[in-house]
Amino acid sequence: AAVVVAVDGPAGSGKSSVSKAASRALGYAFLDTGAAYRALTWQALESGIDTADAAAIVALLDGFDYRTTVTDEGTRVTVGDADVTDAIREPRISAVVSDIARVPEVRLALNDAFRRMIRETDAPGIVVEGRDITTVVAPDAAVRILLTADEAVRIARRSAELAPGTASTAGQLRERDARDAQVVDFLTAAPGVVTIDSTELDFDQTVQAVVGLVND
Ligand code: C5P
Repeated sequence: AAVVVAVDGPAGSGKSSVSKAASRALGYAFLDTGAAYRALTWQALESGIDTADAAAIVALLDGFDYRTTVTDEGTRVTVGDADVTDAIREPRISAVVSDIARVPEVRLALNDAFRRMIRETDAPGIVVEGRDITTVVAPDAAVRILLTADEAVRIARRSAELAPGTASTAGQLRERDARDAQVVDFLTAAPGVVTIDSTELDFDQTVQAVVGLVND
């Protein structure tokens, strides 16, 4: 079976870019679980569903045709025929994705899908990142990491990632973390989970810290 590297952490911790780079360095596959929550949110908005309407969200799960395809230009995310790779990163999605992530049926369905993707990978390993990977999705992963950074640093990194002029405030990031933390605790490391604090590390050093734990 593939070596599973589970990475959790708050928004703006660099989880996604660090996990992706670590997976490349290791020759492993990469699974961004937040992308699935974002894609379901995109589907809800596309269908004109109020994201606070849990029953309507659960009803969407049935026909939810979520796929990721690895191409030369990176991973593309599609829902049905629509390429939503860029759309799922828009602030209108980030603003309401927590509504969807708090619905228990959504978490169960997506977690099943994540576990299947982990099982079916043909790579020698897979780096899986999210909020509850070390605790719920893959608690028996070979390597379990909580990636953190001081809030000011996370906010600065996230603003640097966004297109110039994109409105995303410190308040939005803080609010999303606070709402997400009501559902899963990704701010404290569960027993056996190694914390990597990237506050004082640059990108490459953080990637090396992850890779180092895998090669240990
Ligand atoms: O990681 P990212 O910021 O793209 O995640 C988007 C949202 O998806 C999070 O704010 C959270 O609400 C949800 N999420 C989750 N559990 C995961 C991954 C993401 O609840 N494992």
